[in-house]
Amino acid sequence: MRVLGIETSCDETAASVVALDGGSAPESLSPKILSNVVLSQIEEHAAFGGVVPEIAARAHVEALDGIVEAALTDSAVSLKEIDAIAATAGPGLVGGLIVGLMTAKAIAAAANKPLIAINHLEGHALTARLTDGLDFPYLLLLVSGGHTQIVAVRGVGDYQRWATTIDDALGEAFDKTAKMLGLPYPGGPNVEKAAATGDASRFAFPRPMKGSAQPDFSFSGLKTAVRQAATAIAPLSDQDVADICASFQAAVADALGDRVARALARFRKEFPDKAKPALVVAGGVAANRTIKATLESRCSKAGFAFVAPPQKLCTDNAAMIAWAGIERLRAGMVGENAADFVPRSRW
Ligand code: KG4
Ligand code: ZN
Repeated sequence: MRVLGIETSCDETAASVVALDGGSAPESLSPKILSNVVLSQIEEHAAFGGVVPEIAARAHVEALDGIVEAALTDSAVSLKEIDAIAATAGPGLVGGLIVGLMTAKAIAAAANKPLIAINHLEGHALTARLTDGLDFPYLLLLVSGGHTQIVAVRGVGDYQRWATTIDDALGEAFDKTAKMLGLPYPGGPNVEKAAATGDASRFAFPRPMKGSAQPDFSFSGLKTAVRQAATAIAPLSDQDVADICASFQAAVADALGDRVARALARFRKEFPDKAKPALVVAGGVAANRTIKATLESRCSKAGFAFVAPPQKLCTDNAAMIAWAGIERLRAGMVGENAADFVPRSRW
């Protein structure tokens, strides 16, 4: 099976070919990423301190044909040998979704191949099966610029959201914090870098939702606390910025660890027969080493395996979309007539 995947839901223009060869027994299957081309638009958005939807849509239009061509060339698979086209149909910025889905529809129609409309979150959710061959069910923590969710992944197309953010996404909180402190976009990596030389105990920032009976996340109160601390001691020295970043990161890791520990306990209760339970992380924020270490320790305490797919497959990419297409093809779940599928920005 060979599937061409296309991803354009945010600020990455991406295409990839993924293959699945082998017998019918699941253990004999060996997925292979034949190509994985990602063009980031970060530079185009940096001056604005965040993703500008209109700029993103135009950049996708300009880049996508070349990116698809590059993905096919890199994979050494011709369009004829492709079994299906899978494209992100939501959620995301609607302009980008239209560009990706319309391009996929055109390729599918011209090459007479089926089109599979993929939910971007399903792509993230199934990546650990591509990289680590995980069996269902498992728990997913998705922490990116747009999403902060804990999802029980029970099967292909069978996802149960156990927690979400009631205000900002975690990546957004990193980006806004960076902006307040005068650090460049994207904020996450720069906050982490600054935090490395900071004192995490200097500011006692709140741990939103910690200990709450409600499963969800919240980060806007933390952001406000950062703003107040920064305003109170302005003008900020480099050391002040480093200390705020370190204290912010420690608060985030602590709050996240608490929410995840709660979900791990629920997973144990709901799936008592699962022999080797696992927590999978995805999304750009999963690159953060302090956060990773906290999650790793929570998992080891709870007897969970901690699975962090390679960063390139944790952040937005099209290999995860192609792989979700393969999973859907195998499960016979190609869905409604995808040629009529309309992009769903809030899917
Ligand atoms: O998954 P991703 O690449 O794109 C989407 O949001 O879909 O995630 C990007 C987010 C940004 O908010 C960025 O600041 C954050 O991930 N991020 C980080 C780190 N690297 C990226 N946040 C904290 N620490 C990092 N090292
Ligand atoms: Zn994503």
